[in-house]
Amino acid sequence: MKITVIGAGNVGSSCADVLAHQDAASEVVLLDIKEGLAEGVALDIWQSSPIDRFNTKTIGVTNDYEATACSSVVVITSGLPRKPGMSRNDLIEVNAEIVKGVTENIIKYSPDTTIIVVSNPLDVMTYQAHIASNLPRTRVMGMAGVLDTGRYRAFIANELNISPKDIQAVLMGGHGDTMVPLPRFTTVCGVPLSDVLSKEKIGSIIERTKFGGGELVKLMGTSAWYAPGSAAARMAEAVARNQKRVLPCCVKLEGEFGLEDVYVGVPVVLGCNGIEQIIELKLDEEEKQLLHKSADAVREMMEVLDSLRKGNKKNH
Ligand code: NAI
Ligand code: 2OP
Repeated sequence: MKITVIGAGNVGSSCADVLAHQDAASEVVLLDIKEGLAEGVALDIWQSSPIDRFNTKTIGVTNDYEATACSSVVVITSGLPRKPGMSRNDLIEVNAEIVKGVTENIIKYSPDTTIIVVSNPLDVMTYQAHIASNLPRTRVMGMAGVLDTGRYRAFIANELNISPKDIQAVLMGGHGDTMVPLPRFTTVCGVPLSDVLSKEKIGSIIERTKFGGGELVKLMGTSAWYAPGSAAARMAEAVARNQKRVLPCCVKLEGEFGLEDVYVGVPVVLGCNGIEQIIELKLDEEEKQLLHKSADAVREMMEVLDSLRKGNKKNH
């Protein structure tokens, strides 16, 4: 079984490294347009296999899509990252072109694959990959919720001084400041979060989570890669290994949660058929409103992409 990772930059190399260390596939192919980069990263990861004891063969290629043929899962990380002062939406024009071209190439060699998009702005790039691939909606998803809940859970763990492993949480909506962490569905080993943290503390953790990406951009001068790479790898592994994991993923909604034709994060079951189920949590009025507000923000950006696509068609 083969998993391909497009883009051997920060997130792509971290994702390939986690996949290899998990022995998630027999082969991980890394592809980048930068001459030699993917080959170098793949070789470096492969040289850790005798040390860390894994078998997954890592192969790097420069823009050679033939090497990606028959991939069960493809993770797209190619695209510009945010720099300080930039929002995720500032990346739309450049990254839409990259994601479109990459998706068309993937589909030529792996027509039945499952695509996991990481490039930003995430929800809109998932839309782009979906249209460019012509795959069913169950086969194209975006990674954001796994990362954002990771941040949320890590902050809660710090606050309570307990293991992050014992915190269950779900978060919905777009990958941006309108994301919707759901404290009502957050538990510490089954105990509701509101029993162990004050409303004010929960509120400040939610705020920090919403701006968690920006916090790291400010510190590092570019966006995060370890947690994003791990998050994408966990999703790819769930599909490749048919794990039926319940994870928040960005997917096109067709009526679920009262939302139509919009790509937002919702809890889903991930298995060998991609998104095998969308779990419709019973949201209260306030949660529903927040989710719809977040979906509206995504829709605005989808319209920007639509107008760019129309402009491109006119120029051809
Ligand atoms: P990076 O700059 O380190 O890596 C991007 C790589 O893509 C580069 O190596 C570049 O050569 C390659 N690339 C560009 N065009 C390509 C093409 N047409 N074909 C193949 N490769 C191509 O950036 P980084 O930090 O890895 O971030 C990648 C993307 O992921 C960015 O758009 C970033 O905003 C996004 N991101 C999304 C997250 C999420 O939660 N969804 C979290 C973190 C980053
Ligand atoms: C993040 O949340 C920038 O989307 C990227 O780290």
